[in-house]
Amino acid sequence: MKSTPLSHLLPATRSQAQLDDDARIQCLLRDRWIDYPRATQALEQLERLFVTPRRERMPCLLLHGDSNIGKTQITAKFRRRHPDVFDERRGMEMRPIISMQMPPTPDQHRFYSSLLFELGAPHNAAAGLAVLERLARNLLRRMAPNMLIVDEVHHLLAGTYREQRASLNLLKFLANDLRATMVLVGTRDAVIALQTDSQMVSRFTPFEVPRWRESEGFRRLLAAFERILPLRRPSDLAQREIAQYVLAASGGLTGEVSRILNAAAEAGIRSGDECIKLEHLEHVAPTHIQ
Ligand SMILES: Nc1ncnc2c1ncn2[C@@H]1O[C@H](COP(=O)(O)OP(=O)(O)OP(=O)(O)O)[C@@H](O)[C@H]1O
Ligand SMILES: [Mg+2]
Repeated sequence: MKSTPLSHLLPATRSQAQLDDDARIQCLLRDRWIDYPRATQALEQLERLFVTPRRERMPCLLLHGDSNIGKTQITAKFRRRHPDVFDERRGMEMRPIISMQMPPTPDQHRFYSSLLFELGAPHNAAAGLAVLERLARNLLRRMAPNMLIVDEVHHLLAGTYREQRASLNLLKFLANDLRATMVLVGTRDAVIALQTDSQMVSRFTPFEVPRWRESEGFRRLLAAFERILPLRRPSDLAQREIAQYVLAASGGLTGEVSRILNAAAEAGIRSGDECIKLEHLEHVAPTHIQ
């Protein structure tokens, strides 16, 4: 193979860029993490909460933003920083962070079932709510996590008014009972759901991950993508025309930016161009703007 300098890529991506086309297209499907300022701020905020000494009424966070903006990726990144450890002395696994999803309908029984599943606790699915609740609380007390993350909190709004109240009370009860910090994650609907309860509002600091706008930050994000896409020639994604196109086609959603760039990178590999051109973007993500 003709050797190219590949200086537009991160060192770790350079070896990938030497692989054959199919292998490189496979590489595009891998999970990857790109730092950007708002995510770094969110991670710092999570870290501050994580190290807050235990006390009554722990401060809590409501991480919100549109679907596909990257909220779950942020919490996943944070979890990787604080992995589970086996405590030899106690002979049990310590879980600094417990993370779960709100069930698609606000059903307390399902909530505790999911939580117990997450805690690795076998339980009788037919058990009553009070039993599951007690089991979950006892386990949480023993495991003493520093943080409980509940994702997809906007599902709470899917229920009737009564169910919403009950689910909110459940979250409030857990937040009070745990003596750990709680992080709720969801779309704008999660914010609306919490706003109906003044105690929750005072307890949970909102933190928004907004959509991208035309900015130096967005161009830096594109430049960061360019360094990890296994293409053999530079694309200069941060240039004005390309940045504007990707912004319009993605609606400013990180997930869409990632998907569009993957598809365009695949087109760049298959066509032999070995870089992303505007025509690839127009092909994989047509927009109606001129
Ligand atoms: N920091 C990042 N680096 C690289 N890709 C990212 C990053 N954040 C998000 N993405 C991309 O965006 C996609 C959507 O992210 P994520 O699942 O975190 O969104 P979300 O905000 O949780 O959406 P939803 O509200 O629908 O659950 C990811 O699958 C990934 O492709
Ligand atoms: Mg998510």
